[in-house]
Amino acid sequence: GLPTFVKIVEVGPRDGLQNEKNIVPTSVKVEFINKLSETGLPVIEVSSFVSPKWVPQMSDHNEVFAAIKRKPDVVYSALTPNVKGLESALEAKASEVAIFGAASESFSKKNINCSIEESLSRFQAVLIRAKEANIRVRGYVSCVLGCPYEGSIKPEKVAEVARKMYELGCYEISLGDTIGIGTPLAMRQLISVVSKEVPLDRLAVHCHDTYGQALANIFAALQMGVSVVDSSAAGLGGCPYAKGASGNVSTEDVVYMLNGLNIKTGVDIHKLLEAGQYISNAIGRKTGSKVAQATHSS
Ligand code: HMG
Ligand code: MG
Repeated sequence: GLPTFVKIVEVGPRDGLQNEKNIVPTSVKVEFINKLSETGLPVIEVSSFVSPKWVPQMSDHNEVFAAIKRKPDVVYSALTPNVKGLESALEAKASEVAIFGAASESFSKKNINCSIEESLSRFQAVLIRAKEANIRVRGYVSCVLGCPYEGSIKPEKVAEVARKMYELGCYEISLGDTIGIGTPLAMRQLISVVSKEVPLDRLAVHCHDTYGQALANIFAALQMGVSVVDSSAAGLGGCPYAKGASGNVSTEDVVYMLNGLNIKTGVDIHKLLEAGQYISNAIGRKTGSKVAQATHSS
């Protein structure tokens, strides 16, 4: 059956804004995150400690972490591809970090410049250091339902990478449909295979809405027992190393669906709509949230 509570991981400030062509001013990011903090969201992915040459959009990570107003019950997380990134994240006082790998060799190479195997040994070093520092690590697997370079990806390959990350000590594994290509049947098959290797209550789904399938895929994952969902306010998003990965599923639409299913999230949809409205106006973009479009008054 469906879960009674879903933890939403808000990735807009990171997955969303990493993909904006125009650099978003630091002060706008800070205001956006502060507004998200007021909504009841339990986790906000603030930024990435990656190479500024690779993703210049996230190069103000230190400034953003220093300026946000933190609420004690909100987790402020960051992506860290290696120990260098982790050390910076620790200095910036990220409450949690995430490593990010892929189920596709080509995507791994394009996104983090190494093979899957090499990435796992880098991640191991991150996990060891994180344990010393007493900070939790999340693991992302990208391209779980398809790769922009390799096409279809076997669920067994996803399960193998997910299991290895879990064994390294990641407390949660987020399965990323990076290019939003999956459908509910594929999602169901994926969860059924991966949950043989990683416990269901340790799995999250991270859906991009490129093909308009995200909510359906999330619903399929919920029916399989998944209870952690990544999403992005105003449907901001994409990945600079996955062409066409435009738009994460919007947090507003996910919360609206979950409210309708009587599944608790702790998120105030009105405050969330305001945060989404704020960032859409600030970056001069039409919101990607259907709920925001439908309820916008002016
Ligand atoms: P590399 O060039 O192989 O790294 O990049 P390197 O170790 O050879 O170092 C080269 C230079 O980068 C050196 O500087 C390092 O100091 C520096 P130089 O001596 O040339 O001046 N460097 C760093 N600087 C800052 N922070 C660091 C860092 N590490 C090295 N942590 C690297 C390898 C992983 C760093 C690079 O490929 C990279 O930064 N990639 C990030 C790509 C990225 O952020 N992609 C988007 C996020 S993933 C995503 O969106 C998918 C997800 O949403 C899930 C889904 O949708 O599927 C999570
Ligand atoms: Mg993503």
